[in-house]
Amino acid sequence: MPDPSRRKVILGLTGGIAAYKAAELTRQMAQNGIEVQVVMTAAACGFITPATMQALSGNPVYTDMWDARVSDNMAHIELSRGRDAIVVAPATADFIAKLVHGLADDLLSTLCLARECPLLVAPAMNRQMWDNPATQRNVSQLKRDGVVVLGPASGDQACGEIGMGRMLEAEEIVQALSAFLAPKLLNGVRALITAGPTFEPIDAVRGITNQSSGKMGYAVACAALEAGARVTLISGPVSLPAPAGAQITRVETAAQMFEAVKRHVAHTDIYIGVAAVADYRVDKPRQHKIKKTDEAQLQLKLVPNPDILGWVAGRPKPPFCVGFAAESRNLDEYADQKRRRKKVQLMVANLAQEAIGADDNEVTMLDDAGMHRLERAPKLVVARQIVAHIARLYSSKKKRKS
Ligand code: PMT
Repeated sequence: MPDPSRRKVILGLTGGIAAYKAAELTRQMAQNGIEVQVVMTAAACGFITPATMQALSGNPVYTDMWDARVSDNMAHIELSRGRDAIVVAPATADFIAKLVHGLADDLLSTLCLARECPLLVAPAMNRQMWDNPATQRNVSQLKRDGVVVLGPASGDQACGEIGMGRMLEAEEIVQALSAFLAPKLLNGVRALITAGPTFEPIDAVRGITNQSSGKMGYAVACAALEAGARVTLISGPVSLPAPAGAQITRVETAAQMFEAVKRHVAHTDIYIGVAAVADYRVDKPRQHKIKKTDEAQLQLKLVPNPDILGWVAGRPKPPFCVGFAAESRNLDEYADQKRRRKKVQLMVANLAQEAIGADDNEVTMLDDAGMHRLERAPKLVVARQIVAHIARLYSSKKKRKS
């Protein structure tokens, strides 16, 4: 299935020391399914080479208005056609001033002036340049002109000083860009998402858990936020930061996850169960650490946990329900059986041994219309495609009802 979330962006580099961060930025954009066309000013080429940027973006780099590779000598117009955005990172104080005044004396500034797509800039400069009233006036004007200003951040600067003016990190720029570009397919929709493992105590210090890292569930939460959803995330014990904009409740056990879901479900349009919930818990966990004895065996009695997804889907007026199934074999068959048994509209199947803990994933989505395979990709890229599919199913269900 082609990736509908693939975006095309021009990344403009201007001449500041933060240009070195553009290498990582390009790599992360590509990882997030964004096709990057790099354009550099002459000053940027003094900080990082076009060859480096070409290798990382996989596309020839443009630096000159009169580049002979553009047959009609219209590089300043041609390059931005069909692009979803221009991102200038780093954007120097000088380049920001040029944008404000509509100056167009090189390829990048001309592209910005002649663009039809949105413009985002990530300022990077010394703190005094940033604080200067001229820069502050210019940045305010840029915002009034509809340009999106990302950052800057405060911290250590290349000049040895500390203060405002550091360019945002690559990850932060990619996140902001992805959210900006994402079609708002779930605008205002309330999504309740579970993620991570559960931890079922045996005694005061031991427990039963699994290797779920939470990466897939958190990626689904980020993708839903990008799509405009209001996200409540119920998370098992993981070491990931909360996705910006999500309302998060952290739990340990399946019983706690169930209670948290019960509290929120009445205000939910879409429920997505990504958590690897323990099917069993220890009956009467010991309050204190179990001491080692000479007994040959130690027996633990396990009792079943509630099926949270099954309970949500079985409510009188259930939200649109999505489950995840991790299987170690017979993936499609077992996942479809689970979909029917739990009566959910969509089941997302992945191979447990390849999905758990990994940074990327390959999934099959199973619904009434059949099976849809998604190629192996970083979990956020996969999550965006899953969310786009959920949005399609959800809106056609709503249309049928109305
Ligand atoms: O966290 P990562 O490291 O990124 O790994 C992601 C993942 C592999 C854990 C994830 O993609 C995934 O597959 N999650 C579901 C794990 C699973 O096998 O679930 P299950 O087959 O036991 O359950 C099927 C569905 O019922 C799931 O939606 C689960 O959340 C839900 N369930 C299960 C048991 C239970 N007691 N209550 C539930 O709600």
